[in-house]
Amino acid sequence: MSVDATYQADADRVPWWQEAVFYQIYPRSFADSDGDGVGDLAGARVRLADLAWLGVDALWISPFFRSPMADFGYDVSDYCDVDPLFGDLAEFDSLVADAHALGMRVVIDWVPNHTSDQHPWFLDASSSRDSPHRNWYVWRYPEPDGSPPNNWVAAFDLSAPAWTFHEPTGQWYLHLFESAQPDLNWDEPQVVEAMHDTLRFWLDRGVDGFRADAIHCIGKDPRLPDDPPEVAGIPHCALNDVPVTHERLRAIRTLVDTYPGQQVVVGEVFLLSTEEVATYYGDGDELHLAFNFPPLFAPWLADHWRGCIEDTCAALEPRGAWPTWVLSNHDNPRHRTRYDRAAARAGEDPVTAARRSEARARAAAVLLLSLRGTPFVYQGDELGLADADVPEGRRVDPGGRDGCRAPIPWDATPDHGWPTGAGVRTWLPMAPEAEERNRGAEAAEPGSVLHLYRRAIALRHATPALSRGSFEWVDLPDGVLGYRRTHAGDTVVVLVNFTGTAVAIDLAKLQGAEVLLASDDPVPRGRFAGRLGPDQALIIRT
Ligand code: GLC
Repeated sequence: MSVDATYQADADRVPWWQEAVFYQIYPRSFADSDGDGVGDLAGARVRLADLAWLGVDALWISPFFRSPMADFGYDVSDYCDVDPLFGDLAEFDSLVADAHALGMRVVIDWVPNHTSDQHPWFLDASSSRDSPHRNWYVWRYPEPDGSPPNNWVAAFDLSAPAWTFHEPTGQWYLHLFESAQPDLNWDEPQVVEAMHDTLRFWLDRGVDGFRADAIHCIGKDPRLPDDPPEVAGIPHCALNDVPVTHERLRAIRTLVDTYPGQQVVVGEVFLLSTEEVATYYGDGDELHLAFNFPPLFAPWLADHWRGCIEDTCAALEPRGAWPTWVLSNHDNPRHRTRYDRAAARAGEDPVTAARRSEARARAAAVLLLSLRGTPFVYQGDELGLADADVPEGRRVDPGGRDGCRAPIPWDATPDHGWPTGAGVRTWLPMAPEAEERNRGAEAAEPGSVLHLYRRAIALRHATPALSRGSFEWVDLPDGVLGYRRTHAGDTVVVLVNFTGTAVAIDLAKLQGAEVLLASDDPVPRGRFAGRLGPDQALIIRT
């Protein structure tokens, strides 16, 4: 190969995480191997072949570390071990090896902002004001009237301060989340070193990167000032944005980049503005990727989505930062449920509403998998699942997020692939409509949501215009979005109808062009006939 050709090939190469489709496994609810009603790593391992069939390139596995489970694993008591509920380190190694053998990367969830209150560091820190680990957490004396040091509120229970008074040592400790999740003090160099060690531990075991939980919170304004009244009631973790965090991210990036495997760090930067989130990419020297949350809350409205996409482009493009897209995750109602609720609020009759929210969820899948940026699929989205309606007696999450965490139905048997021992049941009720919406049934039905995801992912992989092409709007009637994706002379156009009525599309260039994918059809529709069905999305090659 000539030097020129080599140069060309290199210029054309993009990091794997820009072209990958990620799939989020929430292990408690994914698949169970031992009948205790809680999913585990061995259960997930059995299902890897199904994920390879779906075509996803990378798995993000939510926490499986040792934990008292006050926040179902986001309260870590040992960063370098697997909780026995999920398996052990050997099982994790096998999972990674099997995933790699199937061509999928494995990204794990790193929780750097806080530990469990049962972590040995916190047990020591809270044993005395002079303990060696005291400064590993954030402690303050009460105000003269006994109140906490500032007005920050914790996530989940907004009536509660982000501080808990620790009687035995007479000080408050900070927790931006639950009181069982004390915030680490990243101003303490030993904390930085210890947390860097946890990254090295997993990098040495061969992981392909990290999803960094609440990463924008690892720096705090040293003055710990009150939040201004105009943001009263917003959890402080949604407001915390200080320069020192960027310095810490650069150090994390440097550490990760010393490994040879192009590992990725995708950060949960849960701030209210996309512009602020964009700063956490730094100058290409902080996060590789950051989650982009506005689409996670977006209603099924063309203008709203257009705004999300434009804001994302405007904030990220000038920095050369690569976007991400997500419709659902383990912290928020699934998109189908959001569309169901909106239809109920709009007074649609239940049968029409159910039909429409399924059509919208299908079109949303096409949108997710055709935008410029890395898509993240939340387990069960590919089955078109809605949230479970969890009865009061079975609710377990302090943040009210049980519905979207319902176990994944694998087949149409009475236990849907979750056989439990006598007197044991799954930790949450099964996802709804499990008779029809289960992996086995949908795999057997070419018109299913599962096959739509599979086709859309395959098309993305086969079409560089979709995975890395440029993005340009196409002018269309109200209620319809259209965009052109182009790479190396190949152009595809995506059309998404956000309305419940068919729309005529009068674009000369598209008439008779080949339809590559339709959100409502098991097979391509042949040629474009100038019409977009209700809540339908199409991908067309011009
Ligand atoms: C992140 C996680 C969420 C968790 C919180 C505290 O937002 O996604 O599940 O409760 O951080 O770790």
